[in-house]
Amino acid sequence: MTEPALAATAADVSSQRPRVLSGMQPTDALHLGNYLGALRQWVARQDEQDALFCVVDLHALTIPEAVDPAELRHRSRAVAALYFACGLDPERNVVFLQSHVPEHAECSWILTCVTPLGWLYRMTQFKSKAEGRESVGAGLLTYPVLQAADILLYDADEVPVGEDQVQHVELTRDIATRFNRLFGDTFVLPRAVIPGAGARIMGLDDPTEKMSKSVMIERPGHAIGLLDRPEVLKKTIMSAVTDSQREFRFEHASPGVRNLLTILHALSEEPLESIGARFEGRGYGDLKKAVLEAVLERVTPIREHYEALMRDPAELDRILGRGAEAARERAAATLARVKAAVGVGI
Ligand code: TYM
Repeated sequence: MTEPALAATAADVSSQRPRVLSGMQPTDALHLGNYLGALRQWVARQDEQDALFCVVDLHALTIPEAVDPAELRHRSRAVAALYFACGLDPERNVVFLQSHVPEHAECSWILTCVTPLGWLYRMTQFKSKAEGRESVGAGLLTYPVLQAADILLYDADEVPVGEDQVQHVELTRDIATRFNRLFGDTFVLPRAVIPGAGARIMGLDDPTEKMSKSVMIERPGHAIGLLDRPEVLKKTIMSAVTDSQREFRFEHASPGVRNLLTILHALSEEPLESIGARFEGRGYGDLKKAVLEAVLERVTPIREHYEALMRDPAELDRILGRGAEAARERAAATLARVKAAVGVGI
């Protein structure tokens, strides 16, 4: 047996922190669901973890008919700026653009070869996105394999996401397990970490559907955009779907009312029961006003910070360039391990 180390070195300490990876697609602007489900957790825990966050621009190509190249470039930078505007510190985290690290696509191919098709057909996101389309690109089906590569390349222990991504993280574990069984222990098995409040924010115009980026442009009352102006936020929140009751009853709250309660709870951290007691017997207008106030208080500084950052795109690109270098170093080491395990490259 080797002697135990007397004192942990800085490297040891940093390696004891959980390794974290997460990302967002640069499709349209981000909404409050993205913030409460994911981004807020990234920021809150940035001192306790060794984290990488990417803007997954390759993932944004799965519906090519909808891709506008100039717009995609703009949104990629904009999503990175929003990460920083929400408080993510590029000094304490590695923040990068997925396409700047070619190892993702290469690893994804190798993982595609070990992923049974049936696993991909079962993904609910594939089913809902493919529904009603005459033909879909293969990328829509293999999308979660690229996501698995994003995660596995960095030996991530934890993947902080909203509830809708849990199935993809579980698939990542399954792919890693299958790979490890076929080729020997290569990958760390990650787990999804979802927030206690705000893991699934629903649409304000239809509380049976989750708030979603893909419909926020065509349905103006659907989402609370992080960059929406106050008058737009007011309109969206004050016209949120509730129910035909005139006043609030916590016991009988409908899905729309519960969604508003969840938003207020997640933003204020006031317990649900106490919010319930405060609004019991009052009109829904009062609850909506409280939600509007809490949202404005949170998103106004984010929007202002975002606007300031976007005035200096060269600086954003420099930060992303540095992030890509740091990410590549780690990704290349893992990919070398993967290629050696499967026997490609001599
Ligand atoms: P995306 O871009 O759809 O969403 C980004 C993050 O926001 C969360 N989220 C929500 N949380 C609560 N309520 C909602 N209504 C809501 N809508 C979205 C998502 O759960 C996610 O955490 N496939 C991923 C992107 C991805 C990724 C990765 C994530 C690619 N590679 C590697 C983690 C690790 C996606 O489309 O997320």
